[in-house]
Amino acid sequence: MERLQKIMAQAGVASRRKCEELILQGKVQVNGETVTELGTKADPDQDIITVAGKPIKNEKKVYIMLNKPKGVITSASDPEGRKIVSDYLKGVKERVYPIGRLDYDTEGLLLLTNDGEFANLLSHPKYHVPKTYLATVKGVPHGTELDKLRQGIMLEDGMTSPAEVEYKDVDPDNKQSVISITIHEGRNRQVRRMFEAISHPVTRLKRISYGDLLLQNLKRGVYRHLTADEINTLTQLAKSAKPEGSPRKKR
Ligand code: URA
Repeated sequence: MERLQKIMAQAGVASRRKCEELILQGKVQVNGETVTELGTKADPDQDIITVAGKPIKNEKKVYIMLNKPKGVITSASDPEGRKIVSDYLKGVKERVYPIGRLDYDTEGLLLLTNDGEFANLLSHPKYHVPKTYLATVKGVPHGTELDKLRQGIMLEDGMTSPAEVEYKDVDPDNKQSVISITIHEGRNRQVRRMFEAISHPVTRLKRISYGDLLLQNLKRGVYRHLTADEINTLTQLAKSAKPEGSPRKKR
């Protein structure tokens, strides 16, 4: 027996918190009875659980890493008809959704799953899974400018927490450089805004790692399933990640 909101989240209905709202709104029934108590438990293999009249599916859990190309939108549909990540998931029968986002113009490692619990754990603001990006920026930032990013820099939504920053490549004519940056938050367009704040705008951005997971040589536009070890390691990492030290304004 498990809590109803946990079973629902695992079935990919929504995040656990959203499932709690659905229960409180009286939209969930167990064996025909409407349940509005958050502590209610059920047996996912025996009980018939419906949300807004539709039975939830006990789908196989899938965990996917996609090398998202630039020019692709991280959402389930796009009214403007642009390419969406599911265009690259041919052969995945389960309805998966992205864990966090990458901008339209950002490429690289994107995780997708139908496991609401896992998605919730990794994207919860309390946990800070490190994410590393390779940023190609205009010009060559001075070491003191990179120090500002290392220490935390003021953006319009508050101070960023400390980042790890390293030069990777510098153009001999000083026209551009490639910098690796690891951040522990996931604010909107954060890396681009950090480099804008030191007047070295990003011209190309690629996420190359998420926690211990590395993009490595996965080809652009190609996906692979995570291994059981990778899923476990990521779950442990998220659970052990420390709450953020520096306070920041709410977005
Ligand atoms: N930071 C950004 O600026 N863009 C992304 O897509 C991810 C992190």
